[in-house]
Amino acid sequence: MKRLLIKNIGLLAGIDHDGKLCLKGKEMAELHTLPDAYLVIENGRFTDYGKMNDCPPPSGTDEVVDAEGGTVLPSWCDSHTHIVYAGSREQEFVDKICGLSYAEIAIRGGGILNSADRFHELSEDELYQQAMKRVDEIIRKGTGCVEIKSGYGLNTEDELKMLRVIRRIKETTRLKVVSTFLGAHAVSREYKGRQEEYVDLIINEMIPAVGADNLAEFIDVFCDTGFFTPEETARILKAGAEYGMRPKIHADELESSGGVEVGVEYKALSVDHLESMTEEEIEVLKDSQTMPTALPGTSFFLNLPFALGRKMIDRGLPLALASDYNPGSTPSGDMKFIVSLGCIKMRLMPAEAINAATLNGACAMGLSNEYGSITRGKVANFFITDRIPSVEFIPYAYTTPIVWRVFLQGEEYV
Ligand code: NIG
Ligand code: FE
Repeated sequence: MKRLLIKNIGLLAGIDHDGKLCLKGKEMAELHTLPDAYLVIENGRFTDYGKMNDCPPPSGTDEVVDAEGGTVLPSWCDSHTHIVYAGSREQEFVDKICGLSYAEIAIRGGGILNSADRFHELSEDELYQQAMKRVDEIIRKGTGCVEIKSGYGLNTEDELKMLRVIRRIKETTRLKVVSTFLGAHAVSREYKGRQEEYVDLIINEMIPAVGADNLAEFIDVFCDTGFFTPEETARILKAGAEYGMRPKIHADELESSGGVEVGVEYKALSVDHLESMTEEEIEVLKDSQTMPTALPGTSFFLNLPFALGRKMIDRGLPLALASDYNPGSTPSGDMKFIVSLGCIKMRLMPAEAINAATLNGACAMGLSNEYGSITRGKVANFFITDRIPSVEFIPYAYTTPIVWRVFLQGEEYV
């Protein structure tokens, strides 16, 4: 058995002793903390914590880490990314500065189709190498659980290639990875003008192939104006359900267009984006099993409105925050910045934003029984910060790097 003791923790934050799997409404403002603390990890899981005065002696411990007064937080749980992609799209960034919208770029055949062209050219190895640079980047910024979507293949062979890259990432990193099949990200160039046939291809060929190889635990559809309709989304979700893939939906990014409703109806684990959501969708989400997930990095980068995060929490809903790291709408996986945007632009309290980016993010991946808080028995994915004055400092100092040492499954990531 390997035993690790972290001592001299200035503030142990994100403790959950009640085994909550998700926080809603007022609960989101409760970020449990313990000053002057120690933390014990055995075989990669948290087993004990308490006040430094009661710190157990180091005997029987394989490693003692001195936190030097830094804050310990559970790793960020980023429940929505597209980090397997080829190259980058800074030309579109310039086009947007010059006045084109994300939707206009897509109509011209750029955007997702541009990434699909590049994706097709690269080998699995090259894609893996590119993605692993981003994996390394987000781990160093404190992410310990991540969801990764397919959706730059847009034909059966390339979608499978993309999901195999995600599986290889899963197998070769201590970062916790879950995968989502997003064949319905855009209609491929080949099927232009034949959207219905493309949906048939997803249902009849892609989903059975993905299911046969168990390549995805979740299924997603970009349900929005100019992409897929709620009716098409429903057909795709039904087909995915036959292979045990639970939905996570791209909804209401460009317009309020029925994605939340169809997601809730098909018991989606989450509905994500929500930049254009209205009060009506808040009502739809009440008493549902679906986690609303805001992606404020996308609002920031595309100059879109921000999801109604404050209102959702005030009406008693849960809320998760995720990065949406992708080459088109959010080329960043910096969860600390996402937490800052949640506070600055959506008026979340720092504690709410941190809970949204940890426990509720884990919940939006179906992982909150194992990740997302400092809880005895959970997997020890966490980071130690530099000495900081308070947890509020984290979103306040919105470009200051605070992560000092990162641990995944109880092992330091170096
Ligand atoms: O979540 N909105 C759809 N998909 C991604 C963007 C993908 C891209 O532009 O490459 C998103 O924002
Ligand atoms: Fe996305």
